[in-house]
Amino acid sequence: MIELDLFEAPGGVPPLPPGVRLLEGFAAPWEPALLTGIEQVVAEAPYRHMITPGGQCMSVAMTNCGSAGWISDRSGYRYTRIDPHSGHPWPTLPESFSTLARQAAEAAGFTGFAPDACLINRYAPGARMSLHQDRDEHDLAAPIVSVSLGLPAVFLLGGLERRARPARLPLSHGDVIVWGGASRMIFHGVAPVAEGLHPGVGRQRINLTLRRAAPA
Ligand code: SIN
Ligand code: FE2
Repeated sequence: MIELDLFEAPGGVPPLPPGVRLLEGFAAPWEPALLTGIEQVVAEAPYRHMITPGGQCMSVAMTNCGSAGWISDRSGYRYTRIDPHSGHPWPTLPESFSTLARQAAEAAGFTGFAPDACLINRYAPGARMSLHQDRDEHDLAAPIVSVSLGLPAVFLLGGLERRARPARLPLSHGDVIVWGGASRMIFHGVAPVAEGLHPGVGRQRINLTLRRAAPA
């Protein structure tokens, strides 16, 4: 009963399935470079609350950089090369984002990760993300590298099927989760972010999700 062990571990970090790695504090030294990169991206492509295909406004505010950006609207979820708000290509992927992501992927056992897209998620207190799979990317052989900055959060780590009860994985500023291989299609989400103030990042959690998404 591996599932019971995984989902009922009392407190702390539960054992992670193969292909999932938590790199605690890995991105903390990158904070200044990442915050500068985020500021540059947001100046060109401001955060916006997207609408789900079902017509709900997402509580997480999002933007993108890289050669493709993830969007949601009434017609569905997809990657686009153009930011629909500006009519221009998404801002360039900052060098610091791709270098950090390559190093984190390598530390998790995935060599040669060369991300071409980054979704930037901003969680104000109360914002959450429901369980989903990252399935719109072109290259599903590449892992996902997910970087947490600012306020802490509880990552919901489900299984390969939606009905598996998710484990709760506490995430702090600088933590990086990498998932790929046999776990590339895991369901995941984020519990509502609690009120708080982070010394460097303020009253928010920012998540960078680096992917290999654009069609060749
Ligand atoms: C996502 O799945 O896009 C975001 C995950 C997170 O915010 O940690
Ligand atoms: Fe995701």
